[in-house]
Amino acid sequence: MLSTLLRVLLAGQLKPFRLNANEIPRFNPHLENFGLYAHIPFCRRICPFCPYNKMLYREDKAEEYCKALLVELRRYKEKFSAARIDSVYFGGGTPTSVTPRLVQLIDEIRGLFDTGKHIGVEAHPNDLNPENLRLLREAGVNMLSIGVQTFDSQLLKIIGRPYDGAKAKEAVQMALNTGFDTVDVDLIFALPGQKLDDVVNDVAMAFALGAQQVSAYPLIIFLYTGMKAHVRRLGLKKTGMAAEKKMLNAIIDLAQRYGYKRTSIWTYTREGAPRYSSVTRERFVGIGAGAASLNSGYFYLNTFDVEQYVDAVKKRLPVSVGMKLPDRVEMLYWLYWRMYDMDIPSSRFTELFHEPIRRRFGLLLATFLFFGLATSEGDSIKLTKKGAYLFHLVEKGHSWDYLCRVWAGSMKESWPSEIIF
Ligand SMILES: C[S@@+](CC[C@H](N)C(=O)[O-])C[C@H]1O[C@@H](n2cnc3c(N)ncnc32)[C@H](O)[C@@H]1O
Ligand code: SF4
Repeated sequence: MLSTLLRVLLAGQLKPFRLNANEIPRFNPHLENFGLYAHIPFCRRICPFCPYNKMLYREDKAEEYCKALLVELRRYKEKFSAARIDSVYFGGGTPTSVTPRLVQLIDEIRGLFDTGKHIGVEAHPNDLNPENLRLLREAGVNMLSIGVQTFDSQLLKIIGRPYDGAKAKEAVQMALNTGFDTVDVDLIFALPGQKLDDVVNDVAMAFALGAQQVSAYPLIIFLYTGMKAHVRRLGLKKTGMAAEKKMLNAIIDLAQRYGYKRTSIWTYTREGAPRYSSVTRERFVGIGAGAASLNSGYFYLNTFDVEQYVDAVKKRLPVSVGMKLPDRVEMLYWLYWRMYDMDIPSSRFTELFHEPIRRRFGLLLATFLFFGLATSEGDSIKLTKKGAYLFHLVEKGHSWDYLCRVWAGSMKESWPSEIIF
């Protein structure tokens, strides 16, 4: 519903977007640089709230899958022979479930492309021990994002996480002692049964431990996960909108008190630390089952089915559906993620799209400024706290819409002929 409204209002498009099996991307051989995202779909246990493309870890499957990732990347080397990789992100699933293999993969990526200095990995607290951390750091990983979710043992049990608060704390401390540039602590707030004080305690703990970044996401209950039924079974209730807003405001105040800067709608970063972010690249290639890519003017998705992925990549790129982006939609995609960053640098828009942002989106930006949702600061248009709250609601609603249609559809069918959203 919300996505439909955004599409009509912003893209001026009445017809829904269609990701199509026949829309094979025509790659730009002169592409100079891109961000690489590698999806590792394995987890030791499946969490009821999780919307991501994942499966239970199996050693044999993981081994053949990691080999397939390299085959896929070699195919991109043929297409983008002169390109550099700006940053590498391993997301999941749980990349640290295959830590030694990850180290090998990083080496193999470096053998194919020049890589920038940022390598980020999503980590599960149970996988973090001194040996794994040393392996990752020595391989050049400089950013680690730890999926703590909450430090409260009772709440961890409620959301089906297999560790307690002490273990989560120990994992963060160990990571901090390893010397990464950025250790990010992922938290979820507005969990069923969670009180305002619980949220404050969680976030204060992450700041007090000294994490360079804290990401605090509001719980989103996706229809295709078992979370709704799980919450009902436990006799708990969803957190209401007013309580969630109070929680968000408490997090923002706490971040300010601890000297962290709000670097996106849901992240707070310490001055000088590189920001960990997997979703806001301008151009990216995603490898692995269910990975998305945006380059050469196309947005496309790989098949979500791990076995089909491994099979397909032997013959070709495992793309399942894609769409050619009209210019305005490509611009809006960029604008959307800059709003998520709360900072829209006008000159970057001109560099990328060869026209001033105000010529295309003057009315939209003027509306933002008029209603106090944004302020103009030199080259940038920055979202205010009020604007950021509106975008918090938009991002929640849009994620829900997009994932429930595009991801759930792609999980149901390995090679859908079309996905409409
Ligand atoms: C791929 S997971 C992180 C890595 C690892 N698999 C783990 O769970 O520790 C990425 C992050 O998304 C957030 N997340 C997952 N499901 C969510 C949901 N339903 N609502 C809000 N945030 C969610 C969590 O904070 C999670 O750490
Ligand atoms: S939240 Fe993380 S560990 Fe849990 S199922 Fe999702 S990807 Fe796996």
